[in-house]
Amino acid sequence: MALVTWDTSYSVSVKSCDAEHQKLFDLINQLHEAMQLGQGSTIVVPVVHELEKYTQTHFRAEEALLQQACYPKLAEHRQQHQKFVAQVKQFKDDLQAGSLGNSISVLKFLKDWLADHIKQTDKMYSEHLNSRGIK
Ligand code: FEO
Repeated sequence: MALVTWDTSYSVSVKSCDAEHQKLFDLINQLHEAMQLGQGSTIVVPVVHELEKYTQTHFRAEEALLQQACYPKLAEHRQQHQKFVAQVKQFKDDLQAGSLGNSISVLKFLKDWLADHIKQTDKMYSEHLNSRGIK
């Protein structure tokens, strides 16, 4: 069963961001499935690496849109992104080092963080971006 399922309650009313959030959820679900099946680090580590890379790709794209729209809360938003990138990197490093006791609970923590970030922080930019023609 998927750990997290995208539905319209996660929509930020900007198509590219919604698509990127869906891909992030897909990667989290892939990782969750691999861990649940007890797949080894040769399978799990490349997926977490992909999650790390794609998280940064999405954050850069989203920040570029916010900058383009002169979004007043960009600095705080960027700080949250940087914090999450550091957490995902730590997760990857711990997995690679084989030093993570309960990796599924860490993955759930990352999933909750991302879901809350989309619903609380990302959604705050919808109106601002939409009013500047970014949809
Ligand atoms: Fe969609 Fe602010 O991350």
